[in-house]
Amino acid sequence: MRTEKEKIVDVCVYVDRPPLDCDEFERYVVNLVRCANISALVGKNIPSDLLRNDLFPDIGRITVESELNSINFSIDWDEVKFRTHVVVLRTDEPESDFLDDGVSNTEECVSCAEVWQLPHANYVDVWESLVFESTLKNDLFNFVEASLLFSKRGLPMRYLGNKLVFLHGPPGTGKTTLCHALAQKLSVYMSSTFENSYLVQVNSHSLFSRWFSESGKLVTRLFDRIKEMVENSKNLVVVLIDEIESLAMVRKASSEPSDSVRAVNALLTQLDSLKRHENVLILTTSNLTEAVDSAFCSRADIKRYVGLPSVRVMYEILRQSCFQLKQSKCVRFDASGEMEDKDFLRIFTPERGRKAELAEADAILESLLENAKLSNVCNSSRSPDRRNEIASEDASSKLKQIANLCVGLTPRTLEKLPLLVFSKHVVSHGKIEIDLFQYLEFLEQEVRAQFRELKELNSAVNGHPNDGFCHDGRDRFRIARRSQ
Ligand SMILES: Nc1ncnc2c1ncn2[C@@H]1O[C@H](COP(=O)(O)OP(=O)(O)OP(=O)(O)O)[C@@H](O)[C@H]1O
Ligand SMILES: [Mg+2]
Repeated sequence: MRTEKEKIVDVCVYVDRPPLDCDEFERYVVNLVRCANISALVGKNIPSDLLRNDLFPDIGRITVESELNSINFSIDWDEVKFRTHVVVLRTDEPESDFLDDGVSNTEECVSCAEVWQLPHANYVDVWESLVFESTLKNDLFNFVEASLLFSKRGLPMRYLGNKLVFLHGPPGTGKTTLCHALAQKLSVYMSSTFENSYLVQVNSHSLFSRWFSESGKLVTRLFDRIKEMVENSKNLVVVLIDEIESLAMVRKASSEPSDSVRAVNALLTQLDSLKRHENVLILTTSNLTEAVDSAFCSRADIKRYVGLPSVRVMYEILRQSCFQLKQSKCVRFDASGEMEDKDFLRIFTPERGRKAELAEADAILESLLENAKLSNVCNSSRSPDRRNEIASEDASSKLKQIANLCVGLTPRTLEKLPLLVFSKHVVSHGKIEIDLFQYLEFLEQEVRAQFRELKELNSAVNGHPNDGFCHDGRDRFRIARRSQ
């Protein structure tokens, strides 16, 4: 029983094969985590040199997660509850002949869905890579936990929800990726409840367009197959329907009433029939919210708008990419001494008021004067620590400026920037690695280039050079203002 005081530390262990003695294995892992500097480990992998591979050779890696942001050494270990999740990562290709029952004629056996076994190597670390301003990630995870708790406690079905999530918003803001990441996270965290986890990724568009007069029947067949999987209570089945508007389009607006209405009706009926199962979750996304049928929306337990990122989120996404480039030896952080990367590019700090900025400027001036006095007295240059601090301050504020400049771009565009910078400014100049400050300069140039390209694109498409480039009214307004 979890008490108020208990602190939860989740330890995810990826193994090549399940251990023979699970209890002994878990004890070994927990001891390892206790011995290591746990505060430095939260959100990270345990370094492989700490693993005694002679004891358990099949450990691929161990990651430590905690509800707490940091845990320090003064922690009372009796207060900590370790939850160990030992899983084997799948690497298989997805199954794509989902509706092929070997009986129906081959023409009907469209590949309208892909089935992935989870946890899959493709989706490792995706959850961690996603940054949102709101608590969206945890809200989704907690929703599934709560719904499972309610079914375990035997609450009547009407309290258990439809296990249906609807994410909507402009393109490239992480809706699909979040669904993949959530499915993977559930498969790891619920591995002791469910033996097998699956992600059924439905290609609703092809289902509808190719089989125009048959979509209602195909929707029913698709859900019949899903129900077969769900009947086994050891399976956790996460169904992802991207572009849900093509299946659940507003019924009255349809030009081909009979078929599309049948498809929407079939979808609604099937959703209702799935809800009695506790081991299914249906995730749906759309960037055409207004085209989605209201009866579908009203069934969704969680309806969340996923909008363009704030400056803080932009900063974190760009910061992550800098660390990734550093790790892959494409960008050098010239910090000397013991300074850690995370301190070099600091986490985002919000803009402060004018008063605070003036106070800081005074403090910096004072410390510079102090340093100048010291260097006169000691005739020595600045210490490496101070140099690091200044470099870190510069790099962090430069990145903040760039993040401010990015407002209006999507995370999908941000993700492309490192490659574009390298292709235009690094590889083309015969280099393979550059210094962080140089990289940030080029990054800024590339962000400006992106805005120019998008403006050209919009004027070509719409004939309005100042029009926005995403399907969101508020963003269009902001971008229109920006490009004036
Ligand atoms: N909030 C975020 N944090 C970090 N990366 C993100 C975020 N949002 C999107 N990305 C990255 O941008 C890329 C595009 O995301 P994704 O395909 O999930 O967007 P989407 O909202 O589903 O777009 P669409 O509506 O066009 O289908 C992904 O590779 C993802 O990793
Ligand atoms: Mg998507």
